[in-house]
Amino acid sequence: MSARERAAGTGTAADAGDRVAVISGGSKGLGRLLVERLLVDGWRVATFSRSANEFVKELQVTAEDRFLWEAADLTDPDSLREFVRTVRRRFGRVDLLINNAGVLHQELFLTTSAKQTSTLIAANLLAPITLAHACARSMTQQGGGQILNVSSINAIRGYRGVAVYSAAKAGLDGFSRSLARELGAFGIRVNSIVPGFFDSDMTSDVTEQNRERIQRRTPLGRLGDIHEIADAVLYLISPDASFITGQTIVVDGGITC
Ligand SMILES: NC(=O)c1ccc[n+]([C@@H]2O[C@H](COP(=O)([O-])OP(=O)(O)OC[C@H]3O[C@@H](n4cnc5c(N)ncnc54)[C@H](OP(=O)(O)O)[C@@H]3O)[C@@H](O)[C@H]2O)c1
Repeated sequence: MSARERAAGTGTAADAGDRVAVISGGSKGLGRLLVERLLVDGWRVATFSRSANEFVKELQVTAEDRFLWEAADLTDPDSLREFVRTVRRRFGRVDLLINNAGVLHQELFLTTSAKQTSTLIAANLLAPITLAHACARSMTQQGGGQILNVSSINAIRGYRGVAVYSAAKAGLDGFSRSLARELGAFGIRVNSIVPGFFDSDMTSDVTEQNRERIQRRTPLGRLGDIHEIADAVLYLISPDASFITGQTIVVDGGITC
């Protein structure tokens, strides 16, 4: 296996069709698009969310041998560990973890309850760490793999009403960098992607006025398309990015520059 294959985390399986991706929150939004695109690229894909929707139910039939969905909750670490155990039982390995799922709650800090704070930290920071811990163990035994964390521009710029979410996402970026240092020796790349605003359920209640404001402040003069975020994720996990680890890649049309 070449250094490029090993570093890309794509040379660990004898056959490319054996590769297994774990994606959190693959039922909707960016996670759903990544599930679709990785299946097309020949990966076996395991994902979880709190509930199954039509997209998931259809794949359980049409891609039965290469797709796994289970119910799990980001705020319940035991359910996450059990999910990874199920993936290993079903597919025998984990080559890629995409910590995609996130929970956004907008509220001024002074009125945010302690319970809400705990939930946001649990879902956006503790859950990705728990999943990385469970998946990295498989990757070290296999001789390589990849972890890709989906962060947010809130991690690198301040915005009102998202202080705790921002703290969790900034924590995730720090986690990615230090983990890359520890896991590089095992052939595991760890990176973080920082999307700007894109349309999904998470952002469905953003007012037209706020959308126009975001657009005005973005050098490219428009909002991001979800495919542009997925393209950047797919680049980072591809052999073309085999020498990139510990990095935070911003895909935001320039709004944070
Ligand atoms: N949309 C944006 O503009 C934007 C910008 C920057 C960063 N991001 C980040 O990009 C990532 C994807 O965002 P998105 O907009 O695609 O999200 P989305 O459309 O809201 O989808 C979120 C996914 O995560 C699952 N999920 C949510 N809460 C969960 C929980 N407690 N336990 C288990 N699964 C849960 C959802 O399914 P269930 O509801 O059935 O559980 C769904 O599959 C997130 O990390 C987000 O922070 C988004």
